[in-house]
Amino acid sequence: MNLEKGNLLYRGKAKDIYQTDQQEQVIVKFRDDITAGDGEKKEVMGLKGYYNSLISAKLFTILENAGIKTQFIDLPEPGFMLSHKLEMIPLEVITRNIAAGSLLKRFPFQEGQNFNPPIIQMDFKNDEYHDPMLNDDIILALGLATSDELEIIRKITIKINDVLKNFLETRGLLFPDFKIEFGRDCDDNIVLGDEISPDTCRFWDRETKDILDKDLFRKGESGVIEAYQKVANMILDEEDKKKWSLNF
Ligand code: TMP
Ligand code: ASP
Repeated sequence: MNLEKGNLLYRGKAKDIYQTDQQEQVIVKFRDDITAGDGEKKEVMGLKGYYNSLISAKLFTILENAGIKTQFIDLPEPGFMLSHKLEMIPLEVITRNIAAGSLLKRFPFQEGQNFNPPIIQMDFKNDEYHDPMLNDDIILALGLATSDELEIIRKITIKINDVLKNFLETRGLLFPDFKIEFGRDCDDNIVLGDEISPDTCRFWDRETKDILDKDLFRKGESGVIEAYQKVANMILDEEDKKKWSLNF
């Protein structure tokens, strides 16, 4: 897809946002850059943007079908997502079903411990401050969101977790935790934005417990792209694969 440089609205660590000729629509370009440690560790991995866009489009579609508002409009081609334009809220909303990752470094939980109900954690999306964990009072004092918005975000997040966990289970995947971000659309509705991909979720093979997400990169292990490809292969329908001529 040919995107004009002048239309670039925002460049993040792994995605670019371009204005389209429709005021309220943008193109999200999924790049092949992969980073960890607030961008300190950095590489380019061919096809990462391709797989992440397909995986995100699939998961957003499943959520839309369950009645959840997302930014997703269409995937005109892999790597490029036509989306509603949102004013993003700088919160990383993390849901944890199984104890893993930073939670184990900070608190005396047991690795693999199940959380029912899941834990919802909100971090400040801010590299300079290293994404610190927030509480409601800090969110309100910083003016990141209103208490009504926080309540809506929590409600939607719980529903997203239920829908995705159930879907992924049918595809042979465990869903230990994930991070999502929300924004406000032109009518100030809270809408799910960003992406849902192996960059932003933990996905484990239900049978083998193999890690199939960015943790491989964070830990310096090999097979990162192969893992992303495997997730795409497990969650996309035959119809999607045919549409994009994917041979797995
Ligand atoms: P954590 O265990 O490192 O806190 O990560 C929790 C979840 O959030 C995990 O699914 C990966 C995701 N995540 C991001 O999407 N961006 C980040 O910067 C970090 C640290 C985690
Ligand atoms: N989002 C963080 C970064 O890009 C890292 C992470 O996902 O672990 O640096």
